[in-house]
Amino acid sequence: LDNGLARTPQMGFNDWNAYGCNVSESLIESTAQAMHTDGMQAAGYTYVNIDDCWMTHSRDSAGRLVPDPAKFPDGIAGTAAYVHSLGLKLGIYEDAGTATCAGYPGSLGHETTDAQTFASWGVDYLKYDNCNNNGVPAQSRYTAMRDALAATGRPILFSLCNWGQENVWTWGAGVGNSWRTTGDINASFSSMLSIFHSNAGLAAYAGPGHWNDPDMLEVGNGSLTQTEARSEFSLWSEMAAPLIAGTNIASASSATLSTLTNTRVIAVDQDPLGKQGVLVSSAGGLDVLAKPLSNGDVAVALFNETGSTATISTTAGAVGKTGASSYTLTDLWSGAVSSTSGTISASVPSHGTVMYRLSGGSSTGSDPSGPIRAVGAGR
Ligand code: DGJ
Repeated sequence: LDNGLARTPQMGFNDWNAYGCNVSESLIESTAQAMHTDGMQAAGYTYVNIDDCWMTHSRDSAGRLVPDPAKFPDGIAGTAAYVHSLGLKLGIYEDAGTATCAGYPGSLGHETTDAQTFASWGVDYLKYDNCNNNGVPAQSRYTAMRDALAATGRPILFSLCNWGQENVWTWGAGVGNSWRTTGDINASFSSMLSIFHSNAGLAAYAGPGHWNDPDMLEVGNGSLTQTEARSEFSLWSEMAAPLIAGTNIASASSATLSTLTNTRVIAVDQDPLGKQGVLVSSAGGLDVLAKPLSNGDVAVALFNETGSTATISTTAGAVGKTGASSYTLTDLWSGAVSSTSGTISASVPSHGTVMYRLSGGSSTGSDPSGPIRAVGAGR
């Protein structure tokens, strides 16, 4: 959406993955405080986002949404003021249907009132869900809220959450700043893997202001190992995905925080060229992805989907580079720098990802994100 926002993929936090319906002002404010002091804000995480279950079950006499006073004693406006005082931004959640997925009042038919209410509270971001939509086409429901948000005059990032339905990537760029491409993620390798497969073929639709959203991060959650969590963070960055942390930030382990704040990997996600990386090869569960970067470098991800350690290899030519007798490879997780005449190869642990920045030479001129591959397809 051409509203000046999300020129690089949005970064922030959302409570849903770790807390479900248990959202509150104290959770949002303590998370914001933790992000402010633990390096998350400094690494680029800006939005602190409230998900479902923040409101009461009925609107007020003027038809406005009402924050649950037990969960949000200072309201959303008070919560926003606190978050803003730290230099962070506040996100909220609503639904493009008659009720949210958890059964609270939805915005369908109330778009103007609700957008005005959010703007009056100082909200900076709206995640707009898709439950209870009465079969009304998504494009019209989401466009109505886009227009209502624009009419407020407040910059509000618009995150479409209709789970990839109605091929949202084909119309999402004109309606929202990002769109979910799949159903909900959960904190398992199999969920992360299947979402990766679905999202990886949609690169041609993404760009500054309009991103494919393979759902929020599970880094730090559930059964994901440290290796798997780093794979999720690597692949999401390689795919220029929104980086919305979904774990308990205040009590996150140092390993989780170091994954979430790896500035070399974040720089790939946030590269201003705004190209989503593409799969250049994928044989036997050994994947090579390439993402062209604004300074001519290429971010290369070597992802081992299989159950055992494997060597994954590619070449500078295959990822879009040519013309140098020697290239520089920077390992984005270890920081190690090496040189190569063209072969890019690593031993990659089961479920792991090795990520490099390849520098030197020039671009081959063939745009690896040009052709649309396997649109919307899993496999
Ligand atoms: C479905 C969405 O996809 C989730 O991310 C979350 O927002 C829940 N609804 C909340 O009910």
